[in-house]
Amino acid sequence: MKGNVAERLIKKILQKEALIGIIGMGYVGLPLVLRFCEEDFRVLGFDVDSKKVATLKKGRSYLKSISSSRISQFVRSGHLNVTDDFSRLDEPDCILICVPTPLTEKMEPDLQYIEKTTEAIRQNLRKGQLIILESTTYPGTTEELILPKLKSTGLKVGKDFFLAFSPEREDPGNKRFTTTQIPKVVAGVTPSCQKVVKALYHQIIQQVIPVSSPRVAELTKLLENIYRSVNIALVNELKMLADRMGIDIWEVIEAASTKPFGFSPFYPGPGMGGHCIPIDPYYLSWKAREYDFTTRFIFLAGEINVHVPYYVVAKIQDALNGRGKSIKGAKILILGVAYKKDIDDARESPALAIMDLLQKKGAVILYHDPYIPALPQFRKYYFKLKSSPLTKGLLQRIDAVVVVTDHSGIDYSWVVERAPLIIDTRNVTKNMKQWKKKIVKA
Ligand SMILES: NC(=O)c1ccc[n+]([C@@H]2O[C@H](COP(=O)([O-])OP(=O)(O)OC[C@H]3O[C@@H](n4cnc5c(N)ncnc54)[C@H](O)[C@@H]3O)[C@@H](O)[C@H]2O)c1
Repeated sequence: MKGNVAERLIKKILQKEALIGIIGMGYVGLPLVLRFCEEDFRVLGFDVDSKKVATLKKGRSYLKSISSSRISQFVRSGHLNVTDDFSRLDEPDCILICVPTPLTEKMEPDLQYIEKTTEAIRQNLRKGQLIILESTTYPGTTEELILPKLKSTGLKVGKDFFLAFSPEREDPGNKRFTTTQIPKVVAGVTPSCQKVVKALYHQIIQQVIPVSSPRVAELTKLLENIYRSVNIALVNELKMLADRMGIDIWEVIEAASTKPFGFSPFYPGPGMGGHCIPIDPYYLSWKAREYDFTTRFIFLAGEINVHVPYYVVAKIQDALNGRGKSIKGAKILILGVAYKKDIDDARESPALAIMDLLQKKGAVILYHDPYIPALPQFRKYYFKLKSSPLTKGLLQRIDAVVVVTDHSGIDYSWVVERAPLIIDTRNVTKNMKQWKKKIVKA
């Protein structure tokens, strides 16, 4: 074949003959699988969870946001195959790493998933492969952790194999933007790595944004998440002050949002949730220590956001007290446990912290979430609870409803009309002035 290794790989990509390997069949990996299949690429998915592998091989989805029919069509057409056999990592031409990047108990980066994946790739690395890290992580991971391991094979980066970082911006449940429409930041370790990675993402994404180094791309993703974390903390702090002042923060935000420049609205809530915003900023704080630097905004935002569930519980306690009821023994229905609306993911959800605090105070907890039929084991919590059907009988039996997640499918006025007391952390009761006496904003 003519041309150098990079040119040959680019040609394979442009002709859609490159086999795409995606490691980690989760919220990030699966949408990418589907995008490549839609563009007629063959994809080999890898996951350590053999249950997920078996489900996907049968053409079934295990995520609410992705229908089984989207998976099964590509399994049947032969575009998609999934495996837990990592010795097959020599087969794909391009490998995208989409594995978790959580924190340890001590709030430090837990890089074991990236490390294990890198080792599996190292053992199978061959000439002509492109490796891309998609997982969110601190600046330096691609070049300080992955690159030395892959180089130890004797293959040369930018010549024999290619390495890049491209942060994922997936927003599960967001129907306004598809994977194709979300611009993708990319950075190769060398200029030829950059050329190959750009060629690949141009196949599935409308706008590819090249930046000068993987470190820039890694910090770009963290900036996006820290920006959210800090601004959410800001409105959460102002919400607590406004409450003490007898001002409705939601009305304030609505009014401020009419300013046509210089203001982007962020909304308060029951605390912060999800796999990204509460976790990723600490990746930067940890790395900053190496530079004798303290990321004060990150810690302050974390401190405020972690405090919000305590504030919500205090509001619940006060509301019950105002009705002559003790929190001990009170039956409390948590409405929505997902970390945000219309998704089936409760990881790091503030609902869990609220439920835990309420239980410790002796309350009896029930929950309803149309997306989460049973609560699995979480990093910090395990509740052995199933979603209770949202019936008139249930609303009559309980002492209070706490709206934690504002799923769109729920008829909130129906709930408010029937429940004795509503603690609303999401402003779903905005237009329900007629039931003002039993609504408490928190
Ligand atoms: N979920 C989001 O909205 C989102 C958005 C942007 C970025 N991210 C980032 O993307 C990364 C992945 O997140 P996710 O939400 O898709 O996680 P996820 O938990 O949904 O999926 C990760 C998958 O990787 C698998 N896995 C774990 N270890 C593995 C290994 N060694 N080899 C192969 N597979 C392995 C798991 O079984 C799981 O299926 C994280 O770094 C996250 O911060 C997530």
